[in-house]
Amino acid sequence: MGGAAGGSIQRGHDPSEASMLDTLRVATEIMAPTVATGVIKRRPRVMAANEKLGADRNAIELAQQLRERYGPGPLRLRMPGRSVALVLSADDVGTLLAGSPDPFTPASDEKRASLARFQPHGALISQGSARTRRREINEAVLDTPKPLHRLAAQFTTTVREEGDQLLLAADADGELSWSAFNRAWWRVVRRVVLGDAARDAETVTDLLASLRRSANWAYLGRTDTDAREEFDRGLRRHVDRAEQGSLAALIADSGDSDEATAQVPHWLFAFDAAGMAAMRTLALLASHPEPARRATAEVDKVDEGPAPLPYLRACVLDTVRLWPTTPALLRESTLSTMWGEKPMPPHTTFLIYTPLFHRDSRTLPYADRFSPDIWLDGTARRNPALVPFSDGAGMCPGRNLVLLLVSTMLARLLESHSYQLTSDTRLDSEQPLPATLDNFTLRFGLTPR
Ligand code: HEM
Repeated sequence: MGGAAGGSIQRGHDPSEASMLDTLRVATEIMAPTVATGVIKRRPRVMAANEKLGADRNAIELAQQLRERYGPGPLRLRMPGRSVALVLSADDVGTLLAGSPDPFTPASDEKRASLARFQPHGALISQGSARTRRREINEAVLDTPKPLHRLAAQFTTTVREEGDQLLLAADADGELSWSAFNRAWWRVVRRVVLGDAARDAETVTDLLASLRRSANWAYLGRTDTDAREEFDRGLRRHVDRAEQGSLAALIADSGDSDEATAQVPHWLFAFDAAGMAAMRTLALLASHPEPARRATAEVDKVDEGPAPLPYLRACVLDTVRLWPTTPALLRESTLSTMWGEKPMPPHTTFLIYTPLFHRDSRTLPYADRFSPDIWLDGTARRNPALVPFSDGAGMCPGRNLVLLLVSTMLARLLESHSYQLTSDTRLDSEQPLPATLDNFTLRFGLTPR
């Protein structure tokens, strides 16, 4: 691989061109199920159907077969009027993410079409100097590099309080269900982002959910401008309160509160994925005795304050490796790029289908196993394609905050109870894990420890 030369960039593998039939298979077996599940807001019914049909497993196997047939270079698809390539090698994933935002911008056409409906000024769909500024604001408020956010003490208290309430209700119900957990999780999210006064402000997050549902349709359909204006007004009211101990207070101190407020819809939207990751991690711990023993031992060693909880964080990271909440990472080239000996035109969309790399049974001994240790012993760091939070300059700026809140919630749950998975989908530590895990139907029995 070499550097930039005359507007082109020399890169790894030669691309190849898919046949019409294989293009059709990629469109129907990889792209369509991903889009149908809801890229911006998951559709529970489609998720359940995908789980039943094994759609994700089928998609991973197809991508593996295509790599064997066409070689590791990006596979150009025959899409009328568009240049689209499916990425097939881990090195090329590394190249694309290291080359973001220029010449490989995260602000692809598809993402702009959908996310602009509720976060037109979000960093992810911005370019040039606007992107730089918005990225900086995200990092400043979210304390991106810090394992413990500067407000970690308040956030930990919030998570523990909501965890206490959740467990009281679960003890009374005799089970912990996804819907009970999700309600508690959104209380945590509203308190952390907007302040305690927003704990029960469901209208604002419900409005966002409805805007996100319409964003699932990307180029199709239209935005409900009334809902959008109502959401913006409601959000502004909460952010303007700048309640101490919440991200809203940091927005007020950021020096550009308008620009910082414009990032909040993305934060709220992305916390959905964190709730899904929390419940899926609990499902893994409920079915894997040795990791559960190690997680509980870690929890028993810490007190109520904020703690780094490295093992629990590794469990969460491995959960989002196994079931990535952003399975399609898109990058669009801003100029002509060279791959091996061949050029690819500007405005090529590169599709990184992360389950291919996270679950690659041909190359990873741990592909379908719960393996938190790979996040602790350097194994994950050496693989450029294990990217549940992306990588490079477009890496998720909320990664550490997510790991703090989710690990703290799991610590609270594990501190006082043990869990048995009672939903239909059973996970077995002796069997390969399924490629899809429907979070909406997860249910647990619980026993006081
Ligand atoms: C389990 C939870 C989460 C996961 C797995 C996750 C993962 C990701 C991934 C893969 C990207 C890159 C997307 C792309 O390149 O197309 C991303 C971007 C981003 N995430 Fe997260 N995220 C999570 C939660 C959050 C939260 C809670 C926040 C904010 C509080 C957040 C803020 C952002 C922002 C602002 C970007 C855009 C960054 C940029 O373009 O520079 N994320 N996230």
